[in-house]
Order: sequence, then C-alpha cells, then structure tokens
Amino acid sequence: MRLIDGNAIAQQVLAEVKERVAKLAPIVPHVAFVRVGDNPASVSYVTKKQKTAAEVGMKASLQLFPETVSKEELFAHLDALNADASVHGILIQAPLPKHLPETEVFNRVSPDKDVDGFGTQSIGRLVQELPGAFAACTPAGVVELLRRSGIETTGKHAVVVGRSLIVGKPAAALLLAKGCDCTVTIAHSRTKDLPAVVRLADIIVAAIGKPRFITADMVKPGAVVIDVGINRVPDATKKTGYRIVGDVDFDAVSPLCEAITPVPGGVGPMTVAMLMKNTLDACERAQARG
Ligand code: GUN
Repeated sequence: MRLIDGNAIAQQVLAEVKERVAKLAPIVPHVAFVRVGDNPASVSYVTKKQKTAAEVGMKASLQLFPETVSKEELFAHLDALNADASVHGILIQAPLPKHLPETEVFNRVSPDKDVDGFGTQSIGRLVQELPGAFAACTPAGVVELLRRSGIETTGKHAVVVGRSLIVGKPAAALLLAKGCDCTVTIAHSRTKDLPAVVRLADIIVAAIGKPRFITADMVKPGAVVIDVGINRVPDATKKTGYRIVGDVDFDAVSPLCEAITPVPGGVGPMTVAMLMKNTLDACERAQARG
C-alpha cells in the first residue's frame, strides 16, 4: 500500500502558482470570498483559503453575511464583485441556508470569475472539454493527485460514490475526459447493491459525506482509493471534542489498496491549492483580455 501525500503534492502546486503570481506583478490576483452564517466547517475552510492565498502572494477579501441575508442583498453584492475589475475570482462557500437556492446563487457569479466551477457555463464547458473551463476545485484536486502520483487512469474503471454538484458530478466528468480516459460509474444513495458496484472499481472516489461508509468488503484488492470525505466525529480525547475522518474506513481498507489518500492530509489541501490555481488562471485570462 502506498500513501498518497496530499500535503506534499499541494505544496508542489502552490510553489508553481507562487512563481506565476510573482511574474504578474504589479498585478495581484484577487479572490473574493463570500460566507453566509457561521457554519464551523465553513469558517475553518474559508480561513484556510485566505491564509493560503496570502502565502502565494494573492489578495483575498471576505464579505460576511448573516444567516438571514436576502437573496436580493446577496445578489447585489455578487453583482458588485462581478463588475469590479480588481476581483478575479469569486467563491461563495457552501452550504448556504435553505432560503438561498444554491445553483441560482452560483450562477450569479460571472463565468469569467467562477473559480469554484459550479456555474452552468463552467460545468457545460467542462463536459464539452473546452480548454480553459474552470473545474471545481475538489474534483480538480482529485485528478491532480492521481496525475502527480503517477497513477495510470486510461481505460481504468473509476467508480465515483456520490453525485453532488460540488464533487461527484464534476469528478465523473473530469475522469471521463480526454487525458484521464477512465470508464466512469457514478454510484449514489439509490444505487442498487452499491457494494457490488464499488467492488468493480480500479479507482474509487468516495464523496458521500458519511464517515467510514466505504468498508473493506466494497474494495477490490489493488484498487486506488481517493477519499474526499471530511467528517467530524465526536472524540472525547480531543480538545475540540471531535476528530476528522473520511468516507473510507481507512484502517480496514488501506491494507487492500495499491494507493490511498489519508484524511486529513489527502484531498483537502488539494482543494485549496486548485482554488489558487483557478484564481491565477482567471487573473491571467483577464489580463489577456485586456
Ligand atoms: N463546500 C464544501 N466544499 C466546497 C468548495 O469546494 N467550494 C465551496 N464554495 N463550498 C464548498
């Protein structure tokens, strides 16, 4: 079994981004974050993304809204960010409160600034395999991990478990696209005999959002396992009262695998690194457009 070190690979990506950012001076790539409410996981993700932006020489701004913000007020802010030429990327941290329709909010972001890749144009361009499509950061991180770990994907059967807009659907599109060339199955909560489907996989991408959902009986020996899950489970021995586990039962599954990502330290840092890369791409394209 080989452990795929997401921290180390994310550092490689960030070092490359930092070099390209330096070349843009005096222009500074700027990513604008929008957070609604105080979901503890969202607070921690956005803080991490802001810190990383600073480390690679980018500007990060943050607008906070209360849980009760109206769609109109939020849209007015997004329209202002869309119109602001000094802003290159816009990211609205999900999840959003129930009264804000997530896809409608994501679609309000200008396609040129959609560094999260959740808008209709970004998803469409990804599926059309057009160059320069913004791929959602977590799926892009999954594919980058596979590529930089030297894992062969051509002709392999990838089973993506989970069909979310944020991970499952775009992950499937990326794995299917030229360059990865996988045979792709998307399994989800309504899949009949899910263990049997997952057992077919050469590559498992676990993005269900349920702690330790993928158990050893679902894994073909020699499979590559990418664990996208970030779940907080109660742990009285920790100061915080919780610890983070993935969607894969790591202890039972890892001995079976050719390679596996740990949680934490696998996909998580790659998501942040790919956001920086997308923001840099957005900035470079804005300069090219003039
Ligand atoms: N919530 C969980 N993952 C993500 C992500 O990659 N982007 C945004 N905007 N929200 C998320």
